Amino acid sequence: MKKIKNLLRENIKSLVKYSSARDEFSDKAVVFLDANENPFNNGLNRYPDPLQRELKKHIGFIKGIPTKNILLGNGSDEVLDIIIRAFCEPGKDNIILTPPTYGMYKVLADINNVEVRNAFLNIDFNLNIERIEKLKDENTKLIILCSPNNPTGNSLNKNDIEYLLKNLNCMVVIDEAYIDFSDDESRIKGLGDYPNLIVSQTLSKAWGLAALRLGICFASEYLISVFNKIKAPYNVNLLSQQKAIEMLSDVETFKNNLIKIKKEKTKLKEKLILLPFVEKVFPSNSNFWLIKVTNANELYNYLIDNGIVIRNRSKMHGCDNCLRISVGTPGENEKLISTMKKYKL
Ligand SMILES: Cc1ncc(COP(=O)(O)O)c(C=O)c1O
Repeated sequence: MKKIKNLLRENIKSLVKYSSARDEFSDKAVVFLDANENPFNNGLNRYPDPLQRELKKHIGFIKGIPTKNILLGNGSDEVLDIIIRAFCEPGKDNIILTPPTYGMYKVLADINNVEVRNAFLNIDFNLNIERIEKLKDENTKLIILCSPNNPTGNSLNKNDIEYLLKNLNCMVVIDEAYIDFSDDESRIKGLGDYPNLIVSQTLSKAWGLAALRLGICFASEYLISVFNKIKAPYNVNLLSQQKAIEMLSDVETFKNNLIKIKKEKTKLKEKLILLPFVEKVFPSNSNFWLIKVTNANELYNYLIDNGIVIRNRSKMHGCDNCLRISVGTPGENEKLISTMKKYKL
């Protein structure tokens, strides 16, 4: 394995980070005249903690990971952007993606002018290791895997991931946005074994906090210190930090909601497979189903006309005539099914 440091961009290795007032303040300070803030207290007049220390303590406790291995971002989209910017020299380096997968990876690479190489998933939506190894060259800095995968819903094979971590000689990023819905073990416990492992998670899905915009990156202490140099100083606002702490303190509600979503998910599948135009419901370890139907475009438009928005994924590789449906409330799922029942082939 190449030294991780050698995979980073030269300018990032030598980057001197912006040092903000709140990075440096001493616990003893009582007067803050350092940041040109408005002095009148309205609860939001001071810049927030740039390192979100209190919130990280809560996340670290729940996940069983030390806070020094955690970076928080404005959604995991920001986390993924920071990772690409840390490793990939625009116009020179490349990343490997495994479509069909989450669309933002390519958008982030395109924004950063980083070449994308596609190692399409096999027909069963698992990794094509041979193709990944063929695509990899000395300018490949990372591979981004999504497990459970969006839009297919399945978890990637554990042994394949293990193989890539051991043999691919580049960074392996695993996006675990949907991990709380699955029975799989998160990869975060492997951080000590694999210096090239980065795991991203989010509070947007199972924790029900999409509007807060809170993404979590788990990586080695060294990499977290590098990512901290890249992120905007105050990337997570105070209200998000406070609300996240409040919600993370109520694990009971989180668990109860998860149970409810899983129950609804099973019920939804049972009803979907009975519909004559549904050819297949793919296995899912997430909070959505990918279904194959006789005519995805037509059904999609029919549902839109009836005020129901799902996701048409039929243009994605290996997803001909496929639609992705999030599990909603009992009422929403019922409305979906009753509307679908009225659809004429
Ligand atoms: C696989 C995957 N990763 C990341 C995200 C984005 O998460 P966030 O809201 O934390 O930016 C999504 C959102 O749909 C997703 O499906």
